[in-house]
Amino acid sequence: MNSDIKYEKNERIKEILRKIHERRICVGVIGLGYVGLPLAMEFAQEGVKTLGFEVDNSKVSKLVAGENYIEDVDDKVVRTMVESEKFTATSDTSRMSECDAVFICVPTPFTENKDPDIRYILDAAKSLADNLKPAAVVILKSTTFPGTTENYVMPILNKPGRKINSDYFLAFSPERIDPGNKKWNTQNTPITVGGVTPESTEIAAAVINIAVQKVVKVSSPAIAEMEKLLENIFRSVNIALVNEMAQLCDRIGVNIWEVVDAAATKPFGYMPFYPGPGIGGHCILIDPYYLAWLARKYDFVTDFITLAAETNEDMPFYVRDMVIKEIAKQPIIITDAKVLILGMAFKKNVNDLRHSPALKVFELLDNEGMNGIEYYDPYVQEVRLKGTLRKSVAEISPESLKKYDVVLITTDHSVFDFEMIAKNSKVVIDTRNALKDIKDRSNIVLLGDGK
Ligand SMILES: NC(=O)c1ccc[n+]([C@@H]2O[C@H](COP(=O)([O-])OP(=O)(O)OC[C@H]3O[C@@H](n4cnc5c(N)ncnc54)[C@H](O)[C@@H]3O)[C@@H](O)[C@H]2O)c1
Repeated sequence: MNSDIKYEKNERIKEILRKIHERRICVGVIGLGYVGLPLAMEFAQEGVKTLGFEVDNSKVSKLVAGENYIEDVDDKVVRTMVESEKFTATSDTSRMSECDAVFICVPTPFTENKDPDIRYILDAAKSLADNLKPAAVVILKSTTFPGTTENYVMPILNKPGRKINSDYFLAFSPERIDPGNKKWNTQNTPITVGGVTPESTEIAAAVINIAVQKVVKVSSPAIAEMEKLLENIFRSVNIALVNEMAQLCDRIGVNIWEVVDAAATKPFGYMPFYPGPGIGGHCILIDPYYLAWLARKYDFVTDFITLAAETNEDMPFYVRDMVIKEIAKQPIIITDAKVLILGMAFKKNVNDLRHSPALKVFELLDNEGMNGIEYYDPYVQEVRLKGTLRKSVAEISPESLKKYDVVLITTDHSVFDFEMIAKNSKVVIDTRNALKDIKDRSNIVLLGDGK
């Protein structure tokens, strides 16, 4: 299919587009998490009646009470949208039949063997298949492998008597939200969309355009699915590159952070990526494996992409070894060592714990039989470590820091007082270059510095 194909818009399509432009539609969002809730709020704020569908009843109850639970979303916006009845959260899938456009924003994790697990997409599609409003457009947003929309979602929606284009429309449009990013938000980040038919592309683009300023139409869902994987794997590969170079820099005693910043002075052909304790979140860690799985079905091995993913996944093990090395330099045995991990979230200034490398380091140190590990994260009050609940220490102070043999910075939250941390810790292992401005570096061990 080619997006340039010119087709005559019939009166039916023109009427659908008119309704969208005049915002006389109801939008549904399935899955009210990091992607779905902000998206639902954008439509509601644009004056569009929006229904949010969620299987987690605790989330539905909060939203019904006007309570927000996603950091990037303004509490007041949720309250106002709920009170004005522009937005309603529900677990009642029969209400999908009220929606002219439905976004699927459900998780796409991997299995224990790191194969794609698209059952949430399939469940959402099944609910829709039973309740789809005639002429509705379905837009899949969950990150997934090329072919999901056409080969998995469409057959479910194509119930007897229902056909694409005559009875409904279907497209894929990936999400680009970057939680915590103050500059780029849902409205100002361009979004791609590819429909299974040209009409689907156009109708989906018109709906998305209500909430997003720039919509880029591509020629098929598979292009949009694959471009999302490219975006994320691009990051994975580049982060793996600096993570490997950081390990080499540790050996030869060259500061990788200064190297990256120096390279970044080149105004073209280079983009800085920084090393760290590993990658987390719901996308960059998972997506290489989605593509590797698909590639295997075509007798193709994504060596390069998989190696990058493995390099990143090895970083928590590398950081564990850095901690053990620092303990070994002190007159203590490992089981008695007191370690404070600073930051559990997978990146700064958010509370998202999914695949957090800090949590992995915590687990790996715990596996060494270390009894004295604690953590502090003002965004993450508790974590589950091998089935046991572990609580964040309430606060850190010059006195409390002194009791630890090693302090490990895994997340560089802006609220941390790094000067106080450096000044009062026996040894600080810094995996984020958070202490770059500290002059006295006698107790600082920086990842990728070798000193
Ligand atoms: N979080 C990000 O920064 C980000 C960025 C780009 C893309 N994505 C992709 O977007 C998708 C969603 O990610 P997320 O971070 O919002 O996940 P999330 O876990 O925060 O939210 C998903 C929500 O869907 C709900 N859900 C699951 N099955 C459902 C069903 N059948 N009906 C209704 N609700 C259901 C879950 O309970 C959960 O609340 C994933 O594919 C992810 O890879 C995420």
